[in-house]
Order: sequence, then C-alpha cells, then structure tokens
Amino acid sequence: MDTITVKVTDFEGAQHAIEAPVGWRLMEVIRDSGLSIKAECGGACACATCHVYVAPDWLPRIIPPAPDEMLMLDDAMEVHENSRLSCQIILSPALEGLEVTLAPNP
Ligand code: FES
Repeated sequence: MDTITVKVTDFEGAQHAIEAPVGWRLMEVIRDSGLSIKAECGGACACATCHVYVAPDWLPRIIPPAPDEMLMLDDAMEVHENSRLSCQIILSPALEGLEVTLAPNP
C-alpha cells in the first residue's frame, strides 16, 4: 500500500509526522496516531469534531469543501478561511507533506 507523510500540529504546538496510507481519510490517520481528535461521527460529515486548519500553502492543492462540509463547519468553533473537516480530505500522493493543525474542540 502506498503511503505518504502528513504533518499534524497538536494543541501544544508540537508537530507530528505521521505515515498515512493513500486513500484513507486524514481524520482516520490522525485518530489512529493517538492524537486528540474526537471525530464523533466516524467520518460521516455530521459532527465537525474533526476540524483542522490546513496550512495556507496547501489550501490550493486540496479539493474545496462540498456544501455539506460547509454546513457542518458553520457549527464548528473558531472557524477560519483554512478550516476543513479532516474526514473529508482523502489522502492522495499529491498530498505528500500536507500540513494541518488541530482546531479546538468543544
Ligand atoms: S468525523 Fe464527524 S464530521 Fe468529520
């Protein structure tokens, strides 16, 4: 299975390089790495507890959010222009080195 590396910054500001299988959801690799992410709906785009901030340089390289993701982000805390739901980002080889930061969760 092909893998890429994603870089995830936690609430304390520490960056973690995580090996991530291509085709997985970003939320899944963050969750399975043991970092603190609730992802309460399991990736169904129904909770917004997998909220992350995408590094600005990476935003143009990620497929824009679908309308249902935009709706869920409306309910998230501290939403910024680079906010995304990590369960809606499917990892591909083009995302090698993707950098995100965990957003506050209620
Ligand atoms: S895990 Fe619930 S919206 Fe992403």
